[in-house]
Amino acid sequence: VHKSSIYLPDELKQSVSSLSARSGHSEADLIRQAIERLVALSEVAPTPAAAAEVALPHSAPALVGVGVGPGDPGLVTLRAQATLRAADRVLVIATDRRSVGRAEMVVRSVAPDARVHRVAFAIGADVDQRHASLLALAEVAIGATDAGELVAVAVIGDPTQWTIFPELAREVGRARPSLSIGAEPGVTSYQAAAAAAGTALGHAGSTLVVVDDIEQLNHHLKTRSNAVVMYKASTDASEVKASAAHHHRPDAIVAELSGLPGQRLIPLADTDDGPISYLATVVFPAVAAQPARADR
Ligand SMILES: C[S@@+](CC[C@H](N)C(=O)[O-])C[C@H]1O[C@@H](n2cnc3c(N)ncnc32)[C@H](O)[C@@H]1O
Repeated sequence: VHKSSIYLPDELKQSVSSLSARSGHSEADLIRQAIERLVALSEVAPTPAAAAEVALPHSAPALVGVGVGPGDPGLVTLRAQATLRAADRVLVIATDRRSVGRAEMVVRSVAPDARVHRVAFAIGADVDQRHASLLALAEVAIGATDAGELVAVAVIGDPTQWTIFPELAREVGRARPSLSIGAEPGVTSYQAAAAAAGTALGHAGSTLVVVDDIEQLNHHLKTRSNAVVMYKASTDASEVKASAAHHHRPDAIVAELSGLPGQRLIPLADTDDGPISYLATVVFPAVAAQPARADR
């Protein structure tokens, strides 16, 4: 008999033991967490001042994708910060478990006490390896939420765009259909870039498109009312410049390392030829329609 579960009926002991194996928490830790929650629930209702702080729409157990913006801690929303602080576990991915990824850096700035759990993830192009990483991450998330945790998954930018979170949410949702799964929005790099450059991303009658390859870029630049954002612009800058020139889009800007050391914001025309770095976002503002000339 484990000392920590001496008062529990056999069936509950077995469940605690299997949860402990899946979640990586000791049985004693799980029992302590359960008692802490019970005590917290029975305590007096929060004061109006505390309740007014930040309304957190997530309660344990739940899985929440949290957007932490492109890099500047000042661009993390109050709700995202509160979720990171409240979470029992903040999952962050990294190329290997010894490397601190960008999302983790932002988490450490805005929530230094966050309980960060780094998971290795094959971010590269190999579809099978990426899928295996996703399943492994889903296992961690399921084990933790089964243990009653509020699990945050911190991602750069916004969790609904160009991240692993929607796929992770699908996997976890399939395995645990009744689990609460949500997201806290984050500022995207193109919003930060447009704001820094004083550029409009959209206006009445225009369309905002985000692409990640040169064919899509060429296709969408044709429509002059499209504002076009290019992510993962690992394409050669000369190709992007040629496309801009072909479609008469001289106002494009390149934001590199937004909110991070070494950041820069330059006109596309002024970039050197050669690969644009992975951490760059190219923004082509929509071309405003010329006002019709009044007939005399
Ligand atoms: C996988 S996507 C992540 C998008 C993110 N979820 C979002 O909502 O912005 C990665 C791409 O986002 C852009 N990006 C992310 N952070 C950036 C930053 N700090 N500066 C410039 N571009 C950035 C780059 O184009 C990069 O290739």
